[in-house]
Parts: sequence; C-alpha cells; structure tokens
Amino acid sequence: MKILIINGPNLNLLGSRKPDVYGHKSLDEVNEFIEGYFKRVKLEFFQSNHEGAIIDKIQQSAREYDGIAINPGAYTHYSYAIRDAIEAVAIPVAEVHISNVHGREDFRSTSVISDVCSGTISGFGIYGYVLAVQALAHQIKRNGQ
Ligand code: DQA
Repeated sequence: MKILIINGPNLNLLGSRKPDVYGHKSLDEVNEFIEGYFKRVKLEFFQSNHEGAIIDKIQQSAREYDGIAINPGAYTHYSYAIRDAIEAVAIPVAEVHISNVHGREDFRSTSVISDVCSGTISGFGIYGYVLAVQALAHQIKRNGQ
C-alpha cells in the first residue's frame, strides 16, 4: 500500500514557524517521525508553496498511490481549485491540520475541502499525520474487501 503525504504553503518552515503552535520539528523530522510508525505502508512526501503544483500532484496521484493525506495550509480555507482536484481523484483523501483550526482565528474554521475528504484530523499536532495514514490504510483495506 502506498500513501502520499502532501504539505502545502509555509509547512516547509516547520520548526521555525510559530513553534508554540506547530512544534519544534522541521518538516524532514516530521516526515521521519511519521515513517517511524509504519513498516508495511509505503509513504512518500511532497511539499509545495504553489497551488498549481499541489493540484498537479493530486491529479497524478490516482495512478501511483492508494490514498493521500493532505495538509493544504492556508489553501484549506479558500482554494476551490484544490477542492476540485480532490473531488476528481478516485482515491481516498484525509485532511490534516497540526493545530486545532477551530480554536484559532475565525477564518481557520472554514475548510472548503472537508466535505470532499474522507475525514479531517485537527489539533493533535504532528501525530495527526500518523492518525490520518492509519485511518486511510483502514479505509483502503475495507474498500478492497
Ligand atoms: C494548518 C492550519 C492553517 O490554518 C494554516 O494556514 C497552516 C497550517 C495546520 O496544520 O494547523 O498553514 O493547516
């Protein structure tokens, strides 16, 4: 089973960007942390600050992966283009947020992608990526039965 983890804009700054909210680990360290939880699931990682690059990756993913965990960063709150790309892809997609988006500024409570995702994990720090991969793996196995 192959799962792709996509991180959107500014998540390349993990470790230095608001560590009180997003933690002290760099993106590479976060990816290592996630990999440590999985032996049988093959994980690949992609980060971009560009909406079009994220959309291209989502479109290509259906051929290469069984599922996607995506933290679209601020695009979560307004990118109908990323939403449409997720809706068009035939594999399950999980939405992840490191912070609890419902406990912050009002604009972060709106997600334009939640209803086209299988589910959302928010507020559990970087462990949310682990939860998302576990949930996707369960869903993919169940759908394959
Ligand atoms: C985030 C929350 C977003 O509101 C923010 O723009 C991010 C990160 C999170 O992981 O908590 O860049 O998606």
